[in-house]
Amino acid sequence: MELIRRPDDMARITTPELAKAFIDEQITAIKEQVGDKKVLLALSGGVDSSVVAALLIKAIGQNLVCVHVNHGLLRKGEPEQVIQVFKNEMNANLIYVDAVDRFLDKLAGVTDPEQKRMIIGGEFIEVFAEEARKLDGIEFLAQGTIWPDILESEAGIKAHHNAGGLPEDLNFELVEPVRTLFKDEVRVVGKELGLPDNMVYRQPFPGPGLGVRCPGAITRDRLEAVRESDAILREEFAKNGLEGKVWQYFTVVPDFKSTGVKDGKRTFDWPCIIRAINTTDVMEVTVEHLSDELIDHLVQRIITEVPGINRVLFDYTPKPPATVEYE
Ligand code: XMP
Repeated sequence: MELIRRPDDMARITTPELAKAFIDEQITAIKEQVGDKKVLLALSGGVDSSVVAALLIKAIGQNLVCVHVNHGLLRKGEPEQVIQVFKNEMNANLIYVDAVDRFLDKLAGVTDPEQKRMIIGGEFIEVFAEEARKLDGIEFLAQGTIWPDILESEAGIKAHHNAGGLPEDLNFELVEPVRTLFKDEVRVVGKELGLPDNMVYRQPFPGPGLGVRCPGAITRDRLEAVRESDAILREEFAKNGLEGKVWQYFTVVPDFKSTGVKDGKRTFDWPCIIRAINTTDVMEVTVEHLSDELIDHLVQRIITEVPGINRVLFDYTPKPPATVEYE
């Protein structure tokens, strides 16, 4: 397949009109490439795969088969939102795979961060490949590759050949409709395609998901504490006008306990760490300084609403020396 590159003179897509022109152009190109054949897409609910899904639904409707794998490490409400937006509102041909037990069982007792990442990545490919083999007549695989992915892989910084991870018998031709776009352009296109703001302006989220925010061996109760505290943090940031302004914000629940007191009784529970950072290139990050009111409010909500947490800590460390994630 000819590898499409971003033309040097391509205008940056900044307006709904430019987005609409791009969408029309891609719909024609997709129809030309795949005809009446079927296309498979791993739909995580992140910006890139969501925009690719919405584009392909417009172009080929039910011939796009989306597979959403819930590996148990997604944020609160994410699988539900994928089903609501794509299946219920856009009438997508969506297969939802509940692989929560499968992933968490494999991860049980695994403490090494790199091993955790390998299990999550490897298992994802296995689940996706199993679903692909159950389907007949699929010849194409759609991917949310974007222009910086191509530049980074050409520069040897990152390997972005997602399809390269699939077993050899699954030999699909790639469909990459946003491969010439920068991230900000993908968002403008997503908005024009009618995707909800909290999907289009979503903060970066690592592939291994909440797994790297539950340091050490993942247990279901501590993972729930991460998920619930993260949901509270996101809700409060949205209410306080920080959503879309702060680059990335999340909670971490480390694997140690400290003494506390509740209702006159001793508790022995985890701390919850809050991290909110800003950056342009993720090589260096600065910390977002929160207001005293917001800090107090977050502490109150998390210690009263999240089971297993008796202390809230704020990580005000820049990168370097501290990386964004804890693992
Ligand atoms: P670090 O922790 O390396 O994070 O300072 C920099 C950015 O990369 C994200 N990140 C990941 N993204 N898979 C991903 O897709 C990963 O394994 C991974 N680890 C870190 C992190 O959230 C931050 O935006």
